[in-house]
Amino acid sequence: MSRMDYQRVLEEIRDEIQPLLGRGRVAEYIPPLAAVPLDRFGMVVHTVGNDVFQVGDASERFSIQSIAKVFSLTLAMRLEGDAIWQRVGREPSGTAFNSLVQLEIEHGIPRNPFINAGALVILDAILSHGRDGEDLILDLIRLAASSQSVGYNFVVAEGERETSHTNRALAHFLKSFGNLHNDPDRVLDAYFRLCSTSMSCLELASSFLYLATGGRSCTGEEVATPRQVKRVNAVMLTCGVYDEAGDYAYRVGLPAKSGVGGGVVAVMPGKFVATVWSPGLSDRGNSLAGTMALELLTTKTKLSIF
Ligand code: DON
Repeated sequence: MSRMDYQRVLEEIRDEIQPLLGRGRVAEYIPPLAAVPLDRFGMVVHTVGNDVFQVGDASERFSIQSIAKVFSLTLAMRLEGDAIWQRVGREPSGTAFNSLVQLEIEHGIPRNPFINAGALVILDAILSHGRDGEDLILDLIRLAASSQSVGYNFVVAEGERETSHTNRALAHFLKSFGNLHNDPDRVLDAYFRLCSTSMSCLELASSFLYLATGGRSCTGEEVATPRQVKRVNAVMLTCGVYDEAGDYAYRVGLPAKSGVGGGVVAVMPGKFVATVWSPGLSDRGNSLAGTMALELLTTKTKLSIF
């Protein structure tokens, strides 16, 4: 693909997804997210050669929510190595991302690191690395983003905390199974802050570049080893969009991670990272226009991992 082609493809996609804008629902259960206009749409392709293409609201920051769980997983792999897999699985859940039922059946071992229970366990492991555990997360996000200006949105974190009865239940349930070592409130606070991370499509694309380059950020810093990158991409492919993982692999054909803020990141290893933001969600919590945009991207460019 030449430079011209990527830009033309993005402009075609922007035109073709217009009928989907305004459809779906924003994540009303997190009050600050309920106010985000449904008609926003931004998309970016950031290549491994650091060429950046964009359309729409690509520089507007939004709440990346569960997309940030890719950073916490990467950090936990760096800190813990394979030991992390004794406390969390790596199989698709096939259930909602906040399911309590599955956690009970599986005796407190979350199915994967991206469902809420799994992300809580990952954060617990990170926090056990000392009082500075939370700083380590922000440091990793800033290393990946090659930017000191990205960070948490405390209004969103606090808004989610106030209505977080399901996540609270998950944390206490994990504690009762012995799979949470720290105080549940401490882990939950770290979790809400992580989910509140605010980035634009442009910032998100550059911060995920390490997953397309074998571990290096867009400024050449080592964020992860090639082996860790392979593993994170694999978990994204199988678990990154929850109970839509099969449909995503079929339609998009790339490892991807979504968030209820309406963002989605997809990685084409060796080629590019694509990010898209559109706040209208499907019933399963993934961006409606975002999914269509990524399907159009891999169809039009004929680039997917398959
Ligand atoms: O815990 C929650 O429900 C949110 N902070 C994050 C959920 C999320 O982004 C799931 N993604 N599609």
